[in-house]
Amino acid sequence: MKQVRPADIREIYALRAQTIDYFFPERDDEIDFWAQLAEEYGEDILHLMCGTAEVSIGLAKKGFDVTALDLTEEMIYVAEDKIEKEEVEIDLVNEDARYFNMNERFDFAFVSTGDFHHFRDREDIDSFLAKAYAHLNPDGGLALELFQLPDEDFQRDQKEFDPLRAPPEHIDVWKTNKSSYDSDTKMLEIKEELFVDKRDEGKVNTVEYEIQLRLFSKEEIRDILKEAGFENIRFVEVEKFTPYLKDSDTWVVVGER
Ligand SMILES: C[S@@+](CC[C@H](N)C(=O)[O-])C[C@H]1O[C@@H](n2cnc3c(N)ncnc32)[C@H](O)[C@@H]1O
Repeated sequence: MKQVRPADIREIYALRAQTIDYFFPERDDEIDFWAQLAEEYGEDILHLMCGTAEVSIGLAKKGFDVTALDLTEEMIYVAEDKIEKEEVEIDLVNEDARYFNMNERFDFAFVSTGDFHHFRDREDIDSFLAKAYAHLNPDGGLALELFQLPDEDFQRDQKEFDPLRAPPEHIDVWKTNKSSYDSDTKMLEIKEELFVDKRDEGKVNTVEYEIQLRLFSKEEIRDILKEAGFENIRFVEVEKFTPYLKDSDTWVVVGER
């Protein structure tokens, strides 16, 4: 058994790249949602923190010109394989969403699956928003999928979690999840263990990691976006697309350049 306690977010996602898609349900409704929103702005779109590019691929299949960016090289490798298999065209960019520079402007940029919550302090948040703003065309839109917890005393101790889409040779993939929220710091601390039992290799790999997510009220994120220069800020209520957000109230905030 291999035990790893990774130090930073890139390492955590490097270890999760091969299995992360197993934990998402079928994503057609989610892709339809992003397509509908993107259509309001145009066809050149930028998927920030794209992971394995599942949503990016769905949007490319619908005819959008998609650029997909992620920090983690291992995620990009998985995305490359999927893009080749699906025979779609997507520009993949392996960069940090807080610091990237491209010679291109987009009609619409978005962050799915609550990934904006990874930016914990104001410096990271502002740096990300400045980059997103700078890469939008005038009147372009930025959309962030965010969530709020059902109550301030939120705790979760979930021992088992059925993977939703694991292929047969990885049938024994499961994870445990312990989460607790501190309403003073607005940080949700998540401790997870991920087990991958590759039967044919006769071994169980265990990955342990901790993630801190910074949560926002609608008022707070509205103010933050305004300060970053965004206008016409609005909120769109959405279905809970990902099981991770199960107990939460999920919405998308949209701001325009
Ligand atoms: C949950 S996964 C992404 C799932 C993806 N949004 C989707 O819809 O399938 C979170 C991703 O955020 C990426 N990430 C974390 N911090 C980042 C940063 N500073 N810049 C770019 N990507 C980042 C990780 O590498 C990881 O792939």
